[in-house]
Amino acid sequence: MGEAVDLPAATHFGEGNVNAPGPTIDLVAQDDLPATKKPEDDDDWDYPYPTDFKIRERAIDDIRPLKVAVIGAGISGITAGVLLPIKVPGIQLTIFDKNSDVGGTWVENIYPGVRCDIPSHCYQSTYSPNVNWSEEYAQGHEIRNYWQSVARKFNVHSKCRFRTKVNSAQWDADKSKWILNVLDIEAATTADSEFDFIITANGHFNEWKMPSYPGIETFKGHIRHSSNWDPNFDPNGKRIATIGNGASGIQVTTALQKQAAHVDHYARNKTWIAGSFNPSQRERQETAMPFSEQQLKDFQDPEKYLAFRKQLEGSFFRRFEAILRDSETTRIGADRFKQIMRERLGDDAELLEKMVPDFPPFCRRLTPGPGYLEAITKDNLTFIQDPIDHFTETGIVTKDGVHREVDAVICSTGANVDFAPPFPIVAGEYDLSRDWKPDGKFGFPYTYLGLFTPNFPNCAYILGPHPPGTSGTVPHGAETQTTYIAKLLRKISSQGIRTMTPSKRATDDFVAYCDAFFPRTNMSRKCSSWYNGGRPGARIHGVWPGSASHLTRVLREPKWEDFEYTYEKGENRFGFLGNGWTLKEQDPDSDLTPWLRLESENDLKDLHERWWDL
Ligand SMILES: Cc1cc2nc3c(=O)[nH]c(=O)nc-3n(C[C@H](O)[C@H](O)[C@H](O)COP(=O)(O)OP(=O)(O)OC[C@H]3O[C@@H](n4cnc5c(N)ncnc54)[C@H](O)[C@@H]3O)c2cc1C
Ligand SMILES: NC(=O)c1ccc[n+]([C@@H]2O[C@H](COP(=O)([O-])OP(=O)(O)OC[C@H]3O[C@@H](n4cnc5c(N)ncnc54)[C@H](OP(=O)(O)O)[C@@H]3O)[C@@H](O)[C@H]2O)c1
Repeated sequence: MGEAVDLPAATHFGEGNVNAPGPTIDLVAQDDLPATKKPEDDDDWDYPYPTDFKIRERAIDDIRPLKVAVIGAGISGITAGVLLPIKVPGIQLTIFDKNSDVGGTWVENIYPGVRCDIPSHCYQSTYSPNVNWSEEYAQGHEIRNYWQSVARKFNVHSKCRFRTKVNSAQWDADKSKWILNVLDIEAATTADSEFDFIITANGHFNEWKMPSYPGIETFKGHIRHSSNWDPNFDPNGKRIATIGNGASGIQVTTALQKQAAHVDHYARNKTWIAGSFNPSQRERQETAMPFSEQQLKDFQDPEKYLAFRKQLEGSFFRRFEAILRDSETTRIGADRFKQIMRERLGDDAELLEKMVPDFPPFCRRLTPGPGYLEAITKDNLTFIQDPIDHFTETGIVTKDGVHREVDAVICSTGANVDFAPPFPIVAGEYDLSRDWKPDGKFGFPYTYLGLFTPNFPNCAYILGPHPPGTSGTVPHGAETQTTYIAKLLRKISSQGIRTMTPSKRATDDFVAYCDAFFPRTNMSRKCSSWYNGGRPGARIHGVWPGSASHLTRVLREPKWEDFEYTYEKGENRFGFLGNGWTLKEQDPDSDLTPWLRLESENDLKDLHERWWDL
């Protein structure tokens, strides 16, 4: 007889460990077949290798449709809406958004002065560029229009359910489904829907937060967050307080100073003001920076435009060194920014002293802020660093006891940057909205590569924790993350997989890498930023631990060994092999030899590697 071997257990849904010892079968050696029953002797001969395996009567490429929900239709959700239907055969995609159109950030942020702070030609998809950007740094509405046009071009709207807010996501372990509870905002009704896989794309800054100073609710004037700007509010001639000197506060203060009678600008901490994001670019100006006629003409030539784009976007992939602690770029940056600040503050040494931070540049996200420092020097603006103590019905009192009366307060106080989702995402005993918070069970956004969390099967995040950011571009990052997730979805739907979850061990190893990496960067220095959840000294979770090129490489090929799997109906992992057929070969018109191409069109690097031509 042949030797007995242990096989992995037939894997049942809900049992995570596919490597547990399973039933023992006999491997019968050819020579040991019973002498009386040989195939050549007997037409009714029984194949003597009994098995419980049940062949599924379906072709291997008869793919299981997957119901996938994306929560959010900003740049991340649009990217998913464009790429997933193309990259994942059979996907049934629904994109939920509480707004009435796609665009996220660029739909909601309509405050005066809102515009891109990186060049428009880098803040677009890689696959559907706009050669007609009107300015080097587009205003908010032009960015919104661009992304909405991309969504229309790729039919994303047909997958969207607008004015629909996701209230909660609950993993049903018996069904292996996510149950989304959604609110139809117009009808004010809620309903549950089931999905095989969910992807959060709800944005870092979407959950904007108001400050909670004593008395704020008694303030009788106009009060809003800048991300919730009231289009009917006319700032002209008003006394306005602006709170916060992040990128939003800098933009809105600069714009309001020109319209308001007076601006009290509350900036409790210092911040660096840069000339531009990228030393290879010309410095930002406050006024629009339109393209010349010749440039616009050149952009119509695809080759010239591509060369321009590659040069520009390439320079954003080369600025990683800037974030490294004690690097030459950091030192040069600090000197350069200090000089810019001095010049723009009109050589006002006292103001300069008040504004130049003790922490290095790139500890917080850089803020170019054209026109901001000039605005600060104007007579109708008071720059206030003394912390706010409380609000009154008519204004704001700082700790030093000064009461300043205003007609309106615009809070650019940022968002809920602990990155915990703003609605419960619950699996077993864990809830990401609670357990990613500092006092939660994980205490920080505990993720595998910023994309998944152990114990949360079939749940991924686009631009969640550890997004690309210090180099590269946001749209490129969303595309590479979406493509990685597409690979998982293809694997799940085509290989009989019911659940995929990153292992705790792989996740802990990633966290250990982050903990070793971030001390090398300026982000670990003492400042408050959304990289550290607004808590100096806290674990960095707002950015990828490496360069954008590094992240691109990491995401190119999933490390399948880092995941735990369960299979459909508790089947043997090879249930998906089906009945040995492909649907393709049953179609007389299909191309069964896609690898045969003109020799000139063959690139051996991708020979036999194209998933889509199978
Ligand atoms: C004012 C401002 C300016 C910025 N400028 C730049 C810049 O110049 N360059 C740059 O690189 N980055 C910039 N950013 C960062 C910007 O947010 C990202 O670049 C990018 O737009 C994020 O896209 P997103 O799709 O991930 O998130 P978002 O654009 O925030 O979209 C999230 C979407 O999710 C939806 N959503 C959230 N919760 C729910 C729910 N429970 N149910 C249903 N829908 C939900 C929201 O309605 C929203 O539409 C800026 C951010 C802000 C706030
Ligand atoms: N295109 C652009 O130029 C642009 C514009 C807007 C936003 N963005 C993007 O969005 C990100 C977020 O920008 P953001 O400005 O909205 O948020 P942010 O960078 O987090 O800044 C929030 C600001 O509010 C202050 N603040 C928070 N709570 C406060 C309180 N209770 N009292 C007083 N001040 C308080 C913070 O001060 P402390 O630092 O002291 O905590 C900080 O100055 C940016 O980093 C950028 O990525 C880009």
